Amino acid sequence: MRALRIIAGLATIVVVAAAAFVAYAWRSAIDPVEPPVQANIDRALVARGADLAAIGNCNVCHTAPGGQPFAGGLGIPTPFGTIYSTNITPDPENGIGHWSEAAFIRAMREGVDREGRHLYPAFPYDHYTLVSNEDNRAIYAFLMTRKAVSARIPANELSFPFNIRMLLAGWKALYFREGPFQPDPNRSAELNRGYYLTEGLSHCGACHTPRNRLGAEKKGEYLAGAEVENWTVYPINANSPAPVPWNADSLAIYLRHGWHEQHGASRGSMAPVTANLGSVPEEDVKAIAAYVADVMGTPNQERISRGEAALAAARKESETPLAVRTAANGNGVGEAIFVSACQGCHDGRRPVPFGGLNLHLSSAVNAANAQNIINVTLFGLPAARGEPSAIMPAYRGVLNADQLVALLDYMRKRFSDKPAWTDTRERVVATMNGQREVPIYRMDGTTQAPPETSMRTAPWP
Ligand code: HEC
Ligand code: HEC
Ligand code: HEC
Repeated sequence: MRALRIIAGLATIVVVAAAAFVAYAWRSAIDPVEPPVQANIDRALVARGADLAAIGNCNVCHTAPGGQPFAGGLGIPTPFGTIYSTNITPDPENGIGHWSEAAFIRAMREGVDREGRHLYPAFPYDHYTLVSNEDNRAIYAFLMTRKAVSARIPANELSFPFNIRMLLAGWKALYFREGPFQPDPNRSAELNRGYYLTEGLSHCGACHTPRNRLGAEKKGEYLAGAEVENWTVYPINANSPAPVPWNADSLAIYLRHGWHEQHGASRGSMAPVTANLGSVPEEDVKAIAAYVADVMGTPNQERISRGEAALAAARKESETPLAVRTAANGNGVGEAIFVSACQGCHDGRRPVPFGGLNLHLSSAVNAANAQNIINVTLFGLPAARGEPSAIMPAYRGVLNADQLVALLDYMRKRFSDKPAWTDTRERVVATMNGQREVPIYRMDGTTQAPPETSMRTAPWP
């Protein structure tokens, strides 16, 4: 009897709790509207929206390789399965043509779709929530004037229970703080603007801040570096691995042009970010740079001296003629490969970005692991389309795993004063055999679609 009563009591609690949760998680649908007539949309608003959409990288996630812009269908890998970006063109059937401005603003602010379903934070609304209504209206105007594309997107491939959208209400209760952004009166106007853009539309932290097991950014490790799609995302806080400390000026140049003479070129998933920032108002890029420099803080004397030493070492190497050194001097295979295959471009004699950076200045050799050097060495830097760009040959199929490991060990020893990496072989092997799948971006930010670069079709020794 007693046991039965307890069970009945528990069952009631579960049912009441579930009902309360559903009530809490429930969002109503917003009525469909007819797509606005494109010719009636204010051109100036559309132009502003174009810049804002570029700062927000909407094109990067909402365009599949080889697909139409904003038509969605890009599979975004997460630890819980693959989530496909949606079609955000004004197509009424498959896109957001029936979405009113209010429905769009709710998606950006709250992560809820027009029909009231919670959206996965693979759509970075935990950042976009900060965006002002005014800016959202401009982005909406921009999207509604794109070409309507009727592409259907594949269904998400998520494991149970992650495929239950309602549970996202619980995730939001734990990790999501709704905007919009409130300026801090103790910050300058530029830093407030920088915070608004960096934390909001630009969602820099979506890649640069490590995530917990439920995919939320760790508040205590803000911009502390992470690994996204098998590219190492460097810390851009006080722990930046850059030999020469970044400052607001160098950050602004790097973010706008995709390279800086003392830091090299942006690669991997950073390439589309800098490609987008190349076209937006310069003050916005400067505000982001000023804010990130503020997060990094003023470098101490030791850091400044290390930067000067790295610059001096790089200068010396570019002034002395290439020393023809051989494996006989004790550094073995790694040095022989570096001198014969890499040094000719990386001795710093030709200016970045068309010449390779002298690696005394590289964050890559000072990073927590060798992944980014493995990626550029195996896949190279493919040329941008229709414009001059940095290029580097791909060495996959040329170097075997032993040779690449020797090369990486040598580069770490020669160009960094940090301890040797310990997981280099595992990373080299997994990248070579395709277990670590590496998306390749051109310098203009577009992806180079398989099979051109697909590891799985490469003839591995
Ligand atoms: C990091 C990748 C990423 C970026 C950047 C991104 N999105 Fe998305 N977006 C997604 C994904 C993934 C979904 C689907 C989420 C889901 O199914 O729950 C989505 C969904 C949406 C939706 C809901 C559409 C629908 O049909 O349900 C809208 C609206 C949207 N995004 C607009 C934007 C805008 C505007 C931008 C730029 C400011 C943007 N997105 C940038 C990944 C992204
Ligand atoms: C989609 C993921 C992604 C986003 C979003 C992103 N980054 Fe990056 N970022 C990377 C990766 C990957 C690298 C390493 C690139 C490389 O090796 O060249 C990087 C490198 C950098 C570097 C160079 C650091 C160094 O020491 O060389 C800076 C600075 C930087 N990012 C700033 C930003 C800022 C500011 C934003 C927001 C405007 C941002 N990133 C958004 C992925 C991202
Ligand atoms: C034909 C010239 C060329 C050759 C050969 C070459 N590179 Fe590069 N490499 C470049 C250019 C150009 C860049 C882009 C500018 C930059 O960031 O250094 C680059 C970028 C890099 C970077 C990123 C540097 C940074 O932190 O920004 C690394 C690491 C690198 N190369 C390693 C190598 C290695 C290892 C080899 C030999 C196996 C090699 N490169 C051979 C031209 C070359």
